[in-house]
Amino acid sequence: MVTATSDFNDEQLMQILSGDCPDEDLFREADRIRREVYGDAVYLRGLIEFTNYCKNNCYYCGIRASNRNLVRYRLDKETILNCCREGYGLGFRTFVLQGGEDPYFEGEAGDARLCDIVSAIHGEFPDCAVTLSVGERSRESYLRLFDAGARRYLLRHEAASEELYRSLHPAEMKLETRKRCLFDLKEIGYQVGAGLMVGAPGQTLEHLVEDIRFMQKLQPDMIGVGPYLRHKDTPFRDQPDGSMQLTLRLLGVLRILFPYALIPSTTALGTIDPQGRELGLQVGANVVMPNLSPVEVRENYELYDNKICTGEESAQCKSCLEMRVFSAGYRIVTDIGDVKR
Ligand code: 5AD
Ligand code: FES
Repeated sequence: MVTATSDFNDEQLMQILSGDCPDEDLFREADRIRREVYGDAVYLRGLIEFTNYCKNNCYYCGIRASNRNLVRYRLDKETILNCCREGYGLGFRTFVLQGGEDPYFEGEAGDARLCDIVSAIHGEFPDCAVTLSVGERSRESYLRLFDAGARRYLLRHEAASEELYRSLHPAEMKLETRKRCLFDLKEIGYQVGAGLMVGAPGQTLEHLVEDIRFMQKLQPDMIGVGPYLRHKDTPFRDQPDGSMQLTLRLLGVLRILFPYALIPSTTALGTIDPQGRELGLQVGANVVMPNLSPVEVRENYELYDNKICTGEESAQCKSCLEMRVFSAGYRIVTDIGDVKR
């Protein structure tokens, strides 16, 4: 049962996630807490997918290094700035630079290239937040990017269980490194986002409970969760998609356990169901992330099959989402949207 307590024991979590408790009670309580902290505000984050080069080979991901069925691209600084300019005019006050782990932006020269982009955005839009989502890096690199003006960092932990993490990634990728990165980022002063895919191949409800416990230790400012969705050019191509209902339950639980967190209603949720993002907002999510990438490159950033919004211009995505947010019972605010603590 969902009560006023701000914690659940493992058994309660398992019951809620398995659907043994009425979902309506969970969702009502999640929305009550969300409105208490954030009212009906939904924050906008403009997503700029600036490079789809990636050195990694995550078994689930469509832009993995071994996938030869896509055109690799990298946006230059001016193109990225133009995305921000368009976004600024549309009311965006946060720009999220997301990319694969692209060697061009790694090492000393790579750091300098990325810092140059971050400081250009920060200089031209001092009233906006620059968020990075470019994977695992050294502590020094995170520090340089912070000094260049980045203030938020999204790095989903993907799985807090060693065993599950290993079954989703090649042996070179270590959960320990991922966790070290997240704690480094926090210590440097970033607002940090963790998260995972619901229904990733091999994932059980026990794993989700471990994820929740890990995040209670980390205390992330942002939490990204969406259903796992298959991609035809990955080793997991035949694995079933995650479940929308379970994703919604997890969102509800997260809102209750992390009243202050910024939680997006993700594109993956909108892909698995046409009403997915509206439902996500109604069970605790308070962020939407319309795509600001140039339309020409979008279909080359397919992390999973049938990703939505690959054909729409930025302005279309913004107004589409505005309507969806309104129809769900909330409103989009033009605000930098820092975490309220
Ligand atoms: N289905 C759903 N989400 C995915 N991601 C990567 N591949 C998939 C997929 N097949 C998520 C990962 C990553 C984020 C950027 O996208 O969790 O951290
Ligand atoms: Fe992109 Fe609806 S959000 S078309």
